[in-house]
Amino acid sequence: MRDALGSVGSVLVLGGASEIGVAIASLLAAPRSATVVLAGRHGDSLAEAAATLERAGAGRVETVRFDAADVASHDEVIDSAARTAGGDLDVIVVAFGVLGDQQADEAGGDGAVRVATVNYVGAVSAGLAAARQLRRQGHGCIVALSSVAGERVRRANFIYGSSKAGMDGFFQGLSDSLAGSGASVLIVRPGFVRGRMTRGMKPAPLSTTPEAVAEATVKALRGRSAVVWVPKPLRVVMAVMRHLPREAWRRIPS
Ligand SMILES: NC(=O)c1ccc[n+]([C@@H]2O[C@H](COP(=O)([O-])OP(=O)(O)OC[C@H]3O[C@@H](n4cnc5c(N)ncnc54)[C@H](OP(=O)(O)O)[C@@H]3O)[C@@H](O)[C@H]2O)c1
Repeated sequence: MRDALGSVGSVLVLGGASEIGVAIASLLAAPRSATVVLAGRHGDSLAEAAATLERAGAGRVETVRFDAADVASHDEVIDSAARTAGGDLDVIVVAFGVLGDQQADEAGGDGAVRVATVNYVGAVSAGLAAARQLRRQGHGCIVALSSVAGERVRRANFIYGSSKAGMDGFFQGLSDSLAGSGASVLIVRPGFVRGRMTRGMKPAPLSTTPEAVAEATVKALRGRSAVVWVPKPLRVVMAVMRHLPREAWRRIPS
């Protein structure tokens, strides 16, 4: 349960090795030595993430197995994370996601469906399971890592972009459905984040870092915001961009 200063006692990160997810959990856990549950697929990367969190000041770090594509398991994963945390989950970070390889995925194979399955179907299923838990508790916040890529989908990455557009819309609706329940949703829309997911790619203008996304997220949680853009000016930039004529938008380079 959050204390009088808004500090949290327990955090669940779905996609527990995510650089951004771990950066957010580190900032949230430090003030009260909170319990963090990392939910993910690979023991090694979860162990590395757990070590980072312990160094950052988390009180207890546990791991549970979680695959975003295994939707039938999501209720049980959330239940088990809540039990592991000792009852309630104050913040659930939906941090899993895959970028895919647009060119290769357009050409064939199952890459495009994997991006859609993890980023959209997985987010819908895990988001609803998380919301059921927070409704039962009567408090808590889901932090949904969306992307500026979903605000207006671009030719260059429309498979990933459309999956993030879908998940962003889903969490907007979920946020409205939770009104009055005591639970809430914070949608985080980062631009290009220089990190593991974008390694080897040329940073886009207004690029940012996992740490900056984490700081903006924690500030938005304290201010009880519903949406946060990182960095902030992206909101205005995208307000203009979304009205560009289609011909001009199509010519925006990747
Ligand atoms: N990096 C950016 O530029 C950027 C910008 C805007 C938004 N975002 C969004 O922010 C979120 C976090 O990204 P990040 O930068 O922290 O990237 P990251 O470090 O690559 O984290 C993504 C995480 O998703 C996990 N994941 C992938 N498929 C999964 C599955 N089927 N089940 C469970 N976990 C799965 C990965 O774990 P495995 O070890 O299991 O693969 C990885 O830990 C993503 O949703 C991303 O779309 C990122």
